[in-house]
Amino acid sequence: MAAILTSRPCVGELIGQGAFGQVYYTEDRSGKSWVCKEGEFGEHEIAFATRYLHGVVTVNEKGDLQLRMPFLPGKVTKDPAQAYKVATGVVKFLKKLQKTDLPLHRDIKLDNLRFDEKGNVVVIDGGLVGPEDALKRDSDNAAKEKALYIPRGSPVNIPPEAAEPEKVRPKKYDMWGLGTVLYQMLSSEFYPIKTEESMSPNEFLMSRLVGLYISKEMQSDFYAKVNTVAETTLKEWSGKSSEEFEHMERVVEVMRGCLQLKPKKRLSVKAAHKILFPKRPPKVEVPLLPVLNPQRRMSKREVAELLTVKGKLLLGVVL
Ligand SMILES: Nc1ncnc2c1ncn2[C@@H]1O[C@H](COP(=O)(O)OP(=O)(O)OP(=O)(O)O)[C@@H](O)[C@H]1O
Ligand SMILES: [Mg+2]
Repeated sequence: MAAILTSRPCVGELIGQGAFGQVYYTEDRSGKSWVCKEGEFGEHEIAFATRYLHGVVTVNEKGDLQLRMPFLPGKVTKDPAQAYKVATGVVKFLKKLQKTDLPLHRDIKLDNLRFDEKGNVVVIDGGLVGPEDALKRDSDNAAKEKALYIPRGSPVNIPPEAAEPEKVRPKKYDMWGLGTVLYQMLSSEFYPIKTEESMSPNEFLMSRLVGLYISKEMQSDFYAKVNTVAETTLKEWSGKSSEEFEHMERVVEVMRGCLQLKPKKRLSVKAAHKILFPKRPPKVEVPLLPVLNPQRRMSKREVAELLTVKGKLLLGVVL
């Protein structure tokens, strides 16, 4: 746990107003930029800020806790050119997070992603971070309530199965959020389907509580829209360099894999990592060819040896 320091109230420009607190921009005497967050924090948010965001905890004269964290200068926008960076950054982050005692972030959304000064993606806001059993505990209250009162923007990042806790697979939970972020970046739209008009009151409430509720009849529209965005993006990117196109192909595969309504079918962090960082086959060292004597016919064995490195045939030629 970080040291508790006393300090003045957070002062500076108000740059963030969340459900549970305010975030101010501030500079210290040496000119370094910080954010100062005031409001209600649980121990998990504090742990998250100190572990991942280089944050320190302070207390003002009134006794309120503050979190001070280095200012992260870059906003992540709905720009498809940033999608590969975001996908790789979030997946690397989730891989690390899932190995800890607090494996769930539960609030993966565009507003909670920033770039540091080196251009790396940083996942911020540990307001909903928790251990796996937080899902059970929160299934009926905190997470849903938070989703209810947050303006449009947050509920879609909550996976649909959160309404039925027995179906939740904790390791797949945050991948839905990543899917919606990538969808927003590639399409500039908010969500694959508009649902509210056609909902019953009960479904409407569900949509407010947990993502945008997707009834059985709407599922095919949902997947059709995701596929259209995937195909349109790949078409648009086919004119780019081969590296850029390859990166986009991987992003699209991850987006599709994350936006699976059934958690069982959804991509795991590990599987997404494999797609984004495929292992290149090891380079085979090809021996230098001996100087061939054109007068002499080589035996089949000599030719086979020439085409073989450490017992492996280099060419698919059978003589
Ligand atoms: N380290 C930081 N550097 C730059 N901006 C930040 C930083 N931390 C937070 N912000 C800005 O403040 C906003 C709110 O911060 P944060 O998400 O931590 O608060 P919150 O109250 O939990 O918000 P919400 O409930 O909307 O998710 C962020 O969306 C971001 O724009
Ligand atoms: Mg936030």
